Amino acid sequence: MIELIKNKLKLEIEEKLHAKFSEKISIVVEKPKNPKLGDISIPVFSVVKTVRRPLPEVVDIVVELVKASKYQKYFSEVKKVSGFVNIVLNRIEFGKAVINEFSNSEDFGRNDIGVGKTIVIDYSSPNIAKPFSVGHLRSTVIGHSLGNIFEKLNYKVVRINHLGDFGTQFGKIIYAYLNYGDIEKVNKNPIDELVKLYVKFHKLAKEDSSIEEKAREIFKELEQKNPKYVKLWEHFREVSLKQYMKVYDMLNVKFDSYDGEAFYNDKMDKIVKELHDKDLLKKDQGAMIVDLGDEFPPALIQKRDGSTLYITRDLAALFYRKNTYDFDEVLYVVGNEQKLHFAQLKEVVKKMGYDYYKDIHHINFGLVMQNGKKMSTREGKIIKLIDVLNEASKLSLEYINEKNPQLENKEEIAKKVGISAIIFNDLKNYRANDIEFNLKDMVNFVGQTGPYLQYTSVRISSILHDNQIDEDSIDYNYYTNDYSYELIKTIDEYEEVLLKAKADYSPSVLAKYLLTLASYFNSYYSQEKVMVEDLIERNSKLYLISIVRYILDDGMRLLGMQIIKKM
Ligand code: ARG
Repeated sequence: MIELIKNKLKLEIEEKLHAKFSEKISIVVEKPKNPKLGDISIPVFSVVKTVRRPLPEVVDIVVELVKASKYQKYFSEVKKVSGFVNIVLNRIEFGKAVINEFSNSEDFGRNDIGVGKTIVIDYSSPNIAKPFSVGHLRSTVIGHSLGNIFEKLNYKVVRINHLGDFGTQFGKIIYAYLNYGDIEKVNKNPIDELVKLYVKFHKLAKEDSSIEEKAREIFKELEQKNPKYVKLWEHFREVSLKQYMKVYDMLNVKFDSYDGEAFYNDKMDKIVKELHDKDLLKKDQGAMIVDLGDEFPPALIQKRDGSTLYITRDLAALFYRKNTYDFDEVLYVVGNEQKLHFAQLKEVVKKMGYDYYKDIHHINFGLVMQNGKKMSTREGKIIKLIDVLNEASKLSLEYINEKNPQLENKEEIAKKVGISAIIFNDLKNYRANDIEFNLKDMVNFVGQTGPYLQYTSVRISSILHDNQIDEDSIDYNYYTNDYSYELIKTIDEYEEVLLKAKADYSPSVLAKYLLTLASYFNSYYSQEKVMVEDLIERNSKLYLISIVRYILDDGMRLLGMQIIKKM
């Protein structure tokens, strides 16, 4: 509501100033730096400059214009604060408008910005036969949440898991498997076993380098679709994916497509040909490159032996996605370390003459740190994600046992709390920054944590209990004290927050907002008696906190967290 008022007021005042001074004048209508000075602020210096009149005169003119505005019923005071005109909102009228907006909307916070637009999000994308890393977890959590936020804003979202299911390592794994592998073991513990085979291969290759050549041969035949190798590759892919699915199920994450790098195997010749026809390919010591000038190192498209590279497959994937989904934007949720790769990808597409290189966005993110060190191994052993998720559930259960040992289904709830805690810990920071991973801190019910949000929602539910709320008997006078007004203003910001999270491609905007909302609620509840005798008063207050719960739950859902009824 306040955004609407600000935008409309801006246009209205600009128009009237234009009429008065016959000069095009642009003003800003903003939030005062100091909230004590009002809710809306209009600096007039720029107007003074344009119309060349003394400041006090211009301030008076703007004050009069604001007072005569179509929106004046929302203003209780219009003040001059040196070079600014500040507005204090009428809390009753404003509260009424915000509450009405909530009551009249099926899906509060939704916005039409995405109608008719398609966004492709490439995220998670682990590498078959390699462990699912904490980096892949970050990609999964960030990408999933962005997808939800875009959907809420009415975009059509296509979620793609661009599996790393191709590359020379498969030649090595197949060689090692054929010589030392055991199908039972692979089926039982696919990733572990495949990693073991890979490691074994390298050990053996140190003693006998001729097996490198054999592995290369196998990979070549795999590319040429030797049915025996294709069958093995398919099997390894399938069992690995099944293992990843367990993680996705725990996180409640789904994809529209699992077509990874291998899918583009037969779609690359076309790209190479097009690059050649556009005179972009250059031979460099037998390899094929695209020269990207001084700014970036050249993009290596084809190796000397004719095999293609990661970027070649990404080019093929990009064109395929453009043709298939006709996206408006494509997001790649991948760590900071691939910055150069995506910059090069974009540059090649630009050189090819496709204007939509502008719609390619690398949604980069930082490392996961533990005690100041990059987290990826523990005492030399690779950390298994599933173990981390289980550990979080276990710790949550300990907290629950401390706080509420009688809780029914507590194992089930602890799982939801633990996993959501990890998700929230990731998303509360701006994604490009490194994050600290401390399970004990993140599963705590107090502090800036996921459980704190879940707990606040549960607390509101228990207050609401089975009280019926009548939306038609609200007395807006109960929304005017400072604690209530803080809540009303924060409720009003929800849609703006989602738009901002979208614009920054960062769920942290939403995560931080939910923390603010929860803490305003908690101060409100410590100050206000809600369950009072007076039915209208009680009803009005219950309605207000039910809106807070709605937003908390909706926001947590968008972050990919689980909503809990009791805890
Ligand atoms: N599999 C890659 C990795 O783990 C990430 C793939 C990201 N997506 C892409 N289209 N390149 O590093």
